[in-house]
Amino acid sequence: MVSISPKERKKYLIGNWKSNKTKSQVSAFFQEFAQKFKSIGNKKPEGLELIVCPVFIHLEESYKQIIDLKLPILLGAQDISPFEMGAFTGEVTGSQLKEYVSFCIIGHSERRKYFAEDDALLVKKAALAKREGIEVIYCVPDSLTSIPKDVKIVAYEPVFAIGTGTPDTPDNAQKVIKEIKSKNNISLVLYGGSINKDNISKYFEKEDIDGVLVGTSSLDPDSFMQMMLNAAL
Ligand code: 13P
Repeated sequence: MVSISPKERKKYLIGNWKSNKTKSQVSAFFQEFAQKFKSIGNKKPEGLELIVCPVFIHLEESYKQIIDLKLPILLGAQDISPFEMGAFTGEVTGSQLKEYVSFCIIGHSERRKYFAEDDALLVKKAALAKREGIEVIYCVPDSLTSIPKDVKIVAYEPVFAIGTGTPDTPDNAQKVIKEIKSKNNISLVLYGGSINKDNISKYFEKEDIDGVLVGTSSLDPDSFMQMMLNAAL
């Protein structure tokens, strides 16, 4: 196996904005982030990928803002249709999403809980994302949940830690993530659940944690920037 030096290893700071922000709030986020980014010399930590995942209808505005402001941020979607384009009212397909996004979250626990998404459906979504060249960020609540083949990025998000202010401990997150990696032969696994600017570095220090998927604390540009700066690589 070719060993990857710490400098070559990519890590991920991903903001899942969930059903938050109007269009003007989305623009304000990027404008404020750009101002702050300029004040620190337009530099982001080497090897750190910054990704935000707005709601579908704000992907275009986000895309424009990122280009205009020359920000080193990539876009992700929060979901994807399990169908190709056609008569599926309300669905947004991979072929439509790929015009804006490089990534797509699939299987978030809120989709499993509130929209009854099950493994069979999630396998279809992951396959369609892959077909369109969209990188899947596949969420699981533990190390037992099955993961579709070909998924390269997984996010371990224990339900008790989501939006509660009570994260899993860095030690336990490291342990579960190591199990997920060895059981599924996956090399990129992130942690998500109550991450903020004060605790992020404790997770980035762990050997097997390749980054974080953040909800609440990713909504504010200052907090997102602080997380970027505190994500020790
Ligand atoms: P919080 O960061 O608000 O706990 O949300 C985590 C999450 O669900 C990210 O997908």
